Amino acid sequence: MKRLGVNIDHVATIRNARGEYHPDPFFAAKFAKKSGANSITIHLREDRRHISDNDAKRICSIKNLLVNLEISTNPKMINSALKLNPNFICIVPEKRKEITTEGGLNLKKNKSKLKKIILRFKKKGIRTSLFINPSFEDIRLSKNLKAECVEIHTGKISNLVKSKKNHSKELKKIKKCSVLAFNLGLEVHAGHGLDYKTTKLLAKINEISEFNIGHYIVGESVFYGLSKVIKNFRKIIKKK
Ligand code: PXP
Repeated sequence: MKRLGVNIDHVATIRNARGEYHPDPFFAAKFAKKSGANSITIHLREDRRHISDNDAKRICSIKNLLVNLEISTNPKMINSALKLNPNFICIVPEKRKEITTEGGLNLKKNKSKLKKIILRFKKKGIRTSLFINPSFEDIRLSKNLKAECVEIHTGKISNLVKSKKNHSKELKKIKKCSVLAFNLGLEVHAGHGLDYKTTKLLAKINEISEFNIGHYIVGESVFYGLSKVIKNFRKIIKKK
């Protein structure tokens, strides 16, 4: 069964626009779970532009809620992540000025650092995934680094689909990378920029077992409500 992780960062973005308390990401996490999310994803960024330390602490303490924490390799962030002790961690690259995570990790450059971080998380029983571009080399490196999962960055295919450009080459690449990762024993996730259309395309790839979707879900909820949108995504993922 494919799983849906709902990223609620942008509930915090809306809350922060007023600098007050509403809407509360803690409530959104509980509500998303009740509406069919298999897990909740939050990105505790170094600049704390959306999710705050307090949000992360409260969300990670919700009973029976699977939390996937996205975090950079900054040592301070790694220590925060270990304290928060979420169920899952996805290590992502982070640039201070980017609007959102622009690409996958540079595994080659950060090999030894990542190996140590993954080991620290593993010792705490935290499942770790690496956010990577769809590339054979990065899949093989992820396996060598002993990550349990890879999350394939779907930003490129999402942009191609949205701008009605030919996406077949990128789709094939993601499919081939998913097959390779799966055959190497890695769990395959996908995320970034996904909407109904791209999720429908990628849901046909059997090897992908988890989708992490945020901005589109929160945006579409303005019109149709969070519960309805989550249910729509669950249907798409199930149907294939
Ligand atoms: N997966 C990862 C690793 C991400 O960094 C993000 C963005 O924070 C997402 C999924 C969700 O992307 P989007 O908000 O575009 O759906």
